[in-house]
Amino acid sequence: MDKLLIRGGRRLKGEIAISGAKNAALPILCASLLTPDTLVLENVPELRDIGTTLCLLERLGVKYRNGGGHRVELDASQVDSIEAPYDLVKTMRASILVLGPLLARFGEARVSLPGGCAIGQRPVDQHIKGLAAMGAEIRIEHGYVVARARRLKGTTMRTDMVTVTGTENLMMAAVLAEGRSVLENAAREPEVVDLAELLIKMGAHIEGHGTDRIIIDGVERLHGATHHIAPDRIEAGTFLCAVGAAGGDIVLRHTAAHAMGAILDKLREAGVEIEEGGDWIRARMRRRPRATSFRTLEYPGFPTDMQAQLMALDTLAEGTSVIVENIFENRYMHAPELSRMGAQIEVEGDTAVVTGVASLSGATVMATDLRASASLVIAGLAAQGETIVDRIYHLDRGYERMEEKLCALGADIQRLSGNAP
Ligand code: EPZ
Repeated sequence: MDKLLIRGGRRLKGEIAISGAKNAALPILCASLLTPDTLVLENVPELRDIGTTLCLLERLGVKYRNGGGHRVELDASQVDSIEAPYDLVKTMRASILVLGPLLARFGEARVSLPGGCAIGQRPVDQHIKGLAAMGAEIRIEHGYVVARARRLKGTTMRTDMVTVTGTENLMMAAVLAEGRSVLENAAREPEVVDLAELLIKMGAHIEGHGTDRIIIDGVERLHGATHHIAPDRIEAGTFLCAVGAAGGDIVLRHTAAHAMGAILDKLREAGVEIEEGGDWIRARMRRRPRATSFRTLEYPGFPTDMQAQLMALDTLAEGTSVIVENIFENRYMHAPELSRMGAQIEVEGDTAVVTGVASLSGATVMATDLRASASLVIAGLAAQGETIVDRIYHLDRGYERMEEKLCALGADIQRLSGNAP
C-alpha cells in the first residue's frame, strides 16, 4: 500500500489548477446510460473512483474512450447487462447511481446494495422509496436491489432527508418517465446542478435544480451532448485549509468561488486572507489560525466533506473550536490520528471540541476514509518533523495527484510505493 512521506514546516507558495468535481463526474458518467448516443465529457478528474465507475459501465456494455487531457467519450448503444455486481459496488457506494438510469432506459436493474462504509451506515432507502413511487416493482434479493418497470410514471416525491445521490438517482429516473415528476426536499448541491445541466443538454426538461423543489417533465428519448464537468469545490477547499495550516500565499485556478460561500466564510473567520475572481482564488496566511467553530449542513451550509480538513486547521488555532457533524454518524475517525500528532480533540457523539495547540509533531498515521486522509496530509504539512500517511488509496479515490500539486506549491512531500521498505 502506498504511503505519503511529508516533511512539515514549509510555507506553501505558487499556483495550481483545480480538477473537475468527483461528485459531479460520478453521476454524470452514469447518465451516459440514458441515451444510445455518444456523450462527450471534458474536465473529468483522473481518480480511482472515476476508474471504478468506468469499469462498472463497461461491465454493463458501455464503450468508452479516454480522449486524453481529462476527456472521456461514452457510447451506451450496446448495453447488454443490467447488473451492477457486488464486487464493484462494494468498492464504491456511488455505483448505486446506475440504478435510476438503467430502470429509466431499460425497464429493469439489478444493483448490489452498497453496504455501509467507514463514515456511516449510509442506506439507500430513499432511492428505493422514490423509484417505487414512480411505479417500479422493487425487491431486495440476496443483497441486490432488483427493480422492474415497464415505464416509470412521473409523480411527486419527497425524501425523508436531503440526499445528494438520492436526488440524482431520482432525477435520472424521472427524465425518461411518463409525465411530470416533482422532487421535494431535493439536494441543492452544485454537483446536482451540474448533473441537471448535463441532462438538459441531452434534451431533458428540468426546472428548479439548485432549489429544494425540482420539476422534471419526462421525454421519450435523450440524445448525446458535450459537457465540461464543474470544478471540485471540496478539492479547492482542501488546498485552502492546507495554506491555512502551513502558511503561505497560493492561487487556485479553474475554481468556482460562487459555489464555496460557506467554505470561504469559515476560512476567512480562521484568518485566511482570501481574494476571489471568476475562476480563481488567492489565499494568504500570515498568522496563526483563529479557532473556528462550525456545524456541517446540506448545501449551502458548510459541507460535511470539508469537516475533517477544517478540523485539521483548528488543531493549530488560537482558542477552542466546537464542531458538530450533522450529516454522517461516524465521521470523526481522523480525530484519533490527529491526536497522535499532538492535537487536543474531545469527541462526544456528533460533537468534537478542539483545543488549539502551538504546534503538531510529525508521526506515522493511517488514513481511514477519503476526507480523513486529506486532513492528515494538511496536519503533516504544518507539523514539525516527518509524517507518514499510510493507506493513501483512500486519498487517490478523490484527489487527483495531490502530492504533485502540493510539490508545485513548495511542499516537501513524496509518495512511497507500497513495496518500498
Ligand atoms: C454524497 O453522498 C457525496 N458522494 C458524499 O461525498 C457527501 O459526503 C454526501 O453526499 C453529503 O454531502 C457523492 O456525491 C458520490 P447523502 P450520499 O445521500 O449521496 C442519509 C466524498 O467524500 N441517507 O446526501 O451518499 C445518509 O446516511 C463523499 O466525496 C439515508 O438515510 O450522501 C446520510 O446520513 C463522502 N437514506 C444523509 O442521508 C438514503 O436513502 C445524507 O446522505 C440516502 C441518504
